[in-house]
Amino acid sequence: LILCAAILLVAYLLGSIPTGYTAARVLKGIDIREHGSGSTGATNVLRTLGKGPGFFVLVIDTLKGILAIALVRWSFNFAASQNLIPADVNPTNWLAWMVAFAGIFAILGHSKSIWLGFTGGKSVATSLGVLLAMSWQVAVSTAAVFGLVLAISRIVSLSSIAGAIAVSLLMLVFGQPLPYLLFAIAAGVYVIMRHRSNIQRLLAGKEPKIGQKIPTTE
Ligand code: G3P
Repeated sequence: LILCAAILLVAYLLGSIPTGYTAARVLKGIDIREHGSGSTGATNVLRTLGKGPGFFVLVIDTLKGILAIALVRWSFNFAASQNLIPADVNPTNWLAWMVAFAGIFAILGHSKSIWLGFTGGKSVATSLGVLLAMSWQVAVSTAAVFGLVLAISRIVSLSSIAGAIAVSLLMLVFGQPLPYLLFAIAAGVYVIMRHRSNIQRLLAGKEPKIGQKIPTTE
């Protein structure tokens, strides 16, 4: 139990690493939360600081998700090698549930960072990282949905929302275990909730296309 709690705490702390905020502070001396959409995510960094920083933040924020899941697997292998897994625990089930919970904690960390007074991004890149480590087929297919919508609309938020809707369906298509499906549903709903202000702008026809500034003052 202590091991489980420690893994979830580290997953949250990994997600909490404020990549976008730090990039904006270091490169431009600004608080990214006071610019553009106010998000610390790669899309807002791209919009506010440009392509290089945007790409950097995307990669690091994705890595945070991958690392959180890798950490679960390393811990599991360590616990197994030390005979620390109780006999009444089904190892496959334990691993799948821990992967799902660590994924949730990592994406919560990203958007409710302990270093930023529980603010942050919209958890899209970190969710992609978790998915890549969970099931690369689902990750690649979800990214394809995202890419398709982005190619057509040029609007990142709309593409993220499309991916968030598709991911649960893709878990079913690829026959993934129940904990992964539940992760996809929870993460999908959460990511859509994080896009509330985007949805309002989308409905008002005011959501900017990729890289563009946000027209209204926020
Ligand atoms: O990854 C977040 C994206 O979907 C929206 O970001 O900054 O346009 O609200 P932003």
